[in-house]
Amino acid sequence: MAGSFAQLAKKAENKKTSIAVSKEPLEKAPLKILMLGHKALRTPAKRISKVDDSIRELARNMLKSMYSAKGIGLAAPQVGIQKRILVIDLNFEDPKSTPYVFINPEIISTSATVDTYEEGCLSIPGVYGDVIRPTSVKISFRDEIGRPKKMNADGLMARCIQHEIDHLNGVLFVDKVNNQEDLIKQLSDQGFDKKYINLIT
Ligand code: NI
Repeated sequence: MAGSFAQLAKKAENKKTSIAVSKEPLEKAPLKILMLGHKALRTPAKRISKVDDSIRELARNMLKSMYSAKGIGLAAPQVGIQKRILVIDLNFEDPKSTPYVFINPEIISTSATVDTYEEGCLSIPGVYGDVIRPTSVKISFRDEIGRPKKMNADGLMARCIQHEIDHLNGVLFVDKVNNQEDLIKQLSDQGFDKKYINLIT
C-alpha cells in the first residue's frame, strides 16, 4: 500500500541522506586505499564547508572501500582526498550495525588516563604495534546530514577516532609506536621503507 505524499517525500529524502551501504566486500572497491610512502597520507586535510550529496556519496564510497578491505575505520586522506571526513564501523561484519560518519571532527577533551593497545592501519597492511593513547575522548563533529553533534567515546571507539583524526592531520600510528626495533623489522618484512615514519617523541 502506498503511503501519503508526506511519507513518500520523507522516504525519498531519507534515501538521499542515508549513507547505508552493503557490507559485502566488493571485488573492485570504488576508492583505492593508498599505502605508506604516498604523499597524500602526510598532507593535512581541509575542513568541509558544506555537507551535501557529494560528501554523502564520498562517505558511501569510503564505507564500501573500508568494508572491502575488512577495516573498522578509514579517513579520506587514505583514499587521496584531502577533506576532513572519516568513517568508522567497529562491527563491520554485522549487517545490522550502523556505521558512523564524522565530518570535521575535533577532539574537545581527552581523559587523563591512558591505555596501550595494538593498532594496525589499512595503509600499512601487515604491520602492528602498541600505541599509548587517552582512554576516552570527547569530540564534536557534523554528521552526514550536516547536523552538529558531540560524542563521548571510550574503549575501541575512542582508540579508532583518535587514530583516524591523526590521519586527517597527516599523522600515522607508526609515528607513535614505542617498540621501534620491532616496528622497523615489520616494516621491512612488509616491504615498507622506514624513512616514511615521522617519529613523535
Ligand atoms: Ni589508519
